[in-house]
Amino acid sequence: MNNKKILIIDDEKDMLENCARILERNHFTCITIDDPLEALGIATVERPSLVLTDLKMPRKGGMEILQEMKALDSSIIVIVFTAFASVQSAVVAMKEGAFDFIAKPFSADQLLITVERALNHRQLEEDNVNLRTQIESTYGFDKIIGSSPAIQNVFRIIKKIAKTDANILIYGESGTGKELTARSIHINSNRKDKAFIPVDCIALSENLLESELFGHEKGAFTGAYVAKPGLFELAHQGTFFLDEVGKMTLTIQAKLLRVLQERQFRRVGGSDLIDVDFRVISTTNIDLNKAISDDVFIEDLFWRLNVITIEMPPLRERKEDVELLAKHFLHEFANRNKKDIKGISGDAMEILQGYHWPGNIRELQNVIERATSLTDNHHIVPMDLEEHLLEGSESGRYVKNLPFKAAKRKWLDSFEKKYFLDLLREANGNISNAAKKAGIDRKTIYRIMKKHSLDLTL
Ligand SMILES: Nc1ncnc2c1ncn2[C@@H]1O[C@H](COP(=O)(O)OP(=O)(O)OP(=O)(O)O)[C@@H](O)[C@H]1O
Ligand SMILES: [Mg+2]
Repeated sequence: MNNKKILIIDDEKDMLENCARILERNHFTCITIDDPLEALGIATVERPSLVLTDLKMPRKGGMEILQEMKALDSSIIVIVFTAFASVQSAVVAMKEGAFDFIAKPFSADQLLITVERALNHRQLEEDNVNLRTQIESTYGFDKIIGSSPAIQNVFRIIKKIAKTDANILIYGESGTGKELTARSIHINSNRKDKAFIPVDCIALSENLLESELFGHEKGAFTGAYVAKPGLFELAHQGTFFLDEVGKMTLTIQAKLLRVLQERQFRRVGGSDLIDVDFRVISTTNIDLNKAISDDVFIEDLFWRLNVITIEMPPLRERKEDVELLAKHFLHEFANRNKKDIKGISGDAMEILQGYHWPGNIRELQNVIERATSLTDNHHIVPMDLEEHLLEGSESGRYVKNLPFKAAKRKWLDSFEKKYFLDLLREANGNISNAAKKAGIDRKTIYRIMKKHSLDLTL
């Protein structure tokens, strides 16, 4: 049980070192933090089982840390250190959810006993499945991260419906986490030990999609040398994930509807009826009600698929999650690339928060990945961000800390890039037309394209 992670937060470095030494001698893994402002970010990534925090610290007090940790994951155990004279404040902390307190100064044994008792308690709780659902994290759910009311509402729905067998339709713009949500529902369902079968309705042509879904018998068509089970069969007792269901042709929609109604189907070229039982989670980026009234989506199928609707909120409508997600991705990529990057500077974060994120979380993930690999700093700064993010920031506030000449150059560069990108797009990549329109010669356009690595295949 001693492989549990313990986060220790105290502004006194000696105290941190002492505690870590005592606990590590007893095979606990410790992470020490002397700046309480960093605690939440580190806890988000490290997911400790237990947090030991001093109550009185400059910059941020232990009570605030306690609240943050409980919001991050209500099952994290928090123990507070307190000066002997102020046991009263420890009592307040316990009323607020701290598990225990340790009065300073304390002996190695006192520390160990308190920590072990707390972790034993947690283990007992974890063993109890019912309790576990009650203490489920409210701040992140599986790998889905977010503290905004909008995403919290999604967690609430997932928890409520995962164990049912109802089919689910997830609406959402590209990159909002539809697939992540579908996988989370599967993992939390009674079907978790069976397959999760994703099918991308856009990627497959009608013929291919049909033989993929239904499978085929040997000799069913030219090239069908052996019989092959379809995805429906593989999804038996599991979850079928239909990505972009609105892009299915009417023929396939009708066939799918029949399978859902009859819970049976035949392989292409086969005569035996095969029983299936699967739950369908579908996603769509288009309005299916409109598709129905345009006669491109079958209404009966819609009602079959859409027993429960989940709407993934776009990132621009939950700006409070940008910081949390950005830090999460930063830690992930910094670890992966073994780079020592400590955080994101205040003005870079302002730009991230001000941007409208048309590509949602996937775009944020890409921006942070790129910045992490490009930066030479210990912090991500505005210069590490892609230019189109900077353009969006109000009147170039991001350049305010640069010397005038550098700021002007940067600003002009980003203007130039955007101007020519738009120009070339409008001219469909035709350089002569673009040159004419801009009133400059072709050579200049080529030079600028090279400078900004603008692609002709835009
Ligand atoms: N709330 C979140 N917390 C952490 N990571 C997230 C979150 N939402 C999405 N992601 C990550 O963002 C990326 C895009 O998510 P996902 O593929 O689930 O989105 P999608 O809605 O299916 O996108 P598309 O419509 O483009 O297929 C993935 O790498 C996913 O892990
Ligand atoms: Mg997807």
